[in-house]
Amino acid sequence: MEERVIEPQALEGEEKIDLSLRPKTLAEFIGQPVVKDNLSIFLEAAKKRNEACEHVLFYGPPGLGKTTLAHVIAREMEANIRITSGPALERVGDLAAILTNLDDGDVLFIDEIHRMNRNIEEVLYPAMEDYALDLVIGKGPSARTLRLDLKRFTLIGATTRLSLLSSPLRDRFGSIFHLDFYGPDEMTAIVKRSASLLELAVDEPTAFSIATRARKTPRIANRLLRRVRDFAEVRNDGLFNEQAVIGALKALNIDDKGLDDTDRRALKLIIEKFNGGPVGLSTLAAAMAEETDTLEDVLEPFLLQEGLIARTPRGRVVTRQAYDHLGYPPPENTDTLF
Ligand SMILES: Nc1ncnc2c1ncn2[C@@H]1O[C@H](COP(=O)(O)OP(=O)(O)O)[C@@H](O)[C@H]1O
Ligand SMILES: [Mg+2]
Repeated sequence: MEERVIEPQALEGEEKIDLSLRPKTLAEFIGQPVVKDNLSIFLEAAKKRNEACEHVLFYGPPGLGKTTLAHVIAREMEANIRITSGPALERVGDLAAILTNLDDGDVLFIDEIHRMNRNIEEVLYPAMEDYALDLVIGKGPSARTLRLDLKRFTLIGATTRLSLLSSPLRDRFGSIFHLDFYGPDEMTAIVKRSASLLELAVDEPTAFSIATRARKTPRIANRLLRRVRDFAEVRNDGLFNEQAVIGALKALNIDDKGLDDTDRRALKLIIEKFNGGPVGLSTLAAAMAEETDTLEDVLEPFLLQEGLIARTPRGRVVTRQAYDHLGYPPPENTDTLF
């Protein structure tokens, strides 16, 4: 897949910028009021009791702040953070080594926790529940297990796909928080905050026009902000204004809803080849030569949120809004449309 400007995953080399723009405290973190309220209560309670805080799971589409919140928690607890991910843990021994090296109160962050192997995952159960590591020594009939005590750590997991997490793992988290897409005011506030960190003077309409085209996703807002800055410097006499936003987005083929070529291609395919749907995600992915995972993690959540597609038991359908947005006449059979 070619590099998409509106790709919510961090692109290559972007982690550093992500890091510099990342809110460091809960107070700096914009939006997600429910998550913030709950987190601040239980962080304060844990601090009062002088205990490690309970295990936390964050889920939601990429780019909405899961990794940021893991860092925020560690910082608020004045704890060290160890970072790994589901796919990085190849052997049981990889996880065992990390766990035995944790200190009291440390935070272990496992990103993409749904991509962990089941046999590695099983090591986590006693670790999360009893702060214990069960090691199997030897093989066959003489094998025995040895239980090692671990320090009281906090596991923070992040996933884009809660449904892929096994229920024994899910059940061992004290709290599970869903991160939602951000509203226009929150997005505007995020753009302004990032702009000031990048030392860009941005007025309200300019901030708003970036905010409303960033797929309700902070990571994309930050990326657009930088693209607009580049455009302003090269093509707009250094003026960082709405004109620069419009020019940059036009150059990137991003429309006024924040959709790019890939989004429009998906909608057009459903309309033209599948008669508006319903079509299964894997069929659509094959027709587009994309990964089903990409469609499910990245494309679909936003299009659903925008009301451009809808889920039915038999697959995805495009809505009347999608026909309108792409300039197609409304279909004759409107039964399936919302
Ligand atoms: N609530 C927020 N307020 C301000 N910036 C945010 C917020 N959430 C995310 N960001 C920005 O978006 C970037 C991506 O967030 P991140 O936590 O890496 O997302 P995720 O882990 O969910 O993919 C961060 O670097 C940060 O700059
Ligand atoms: Mg992340």
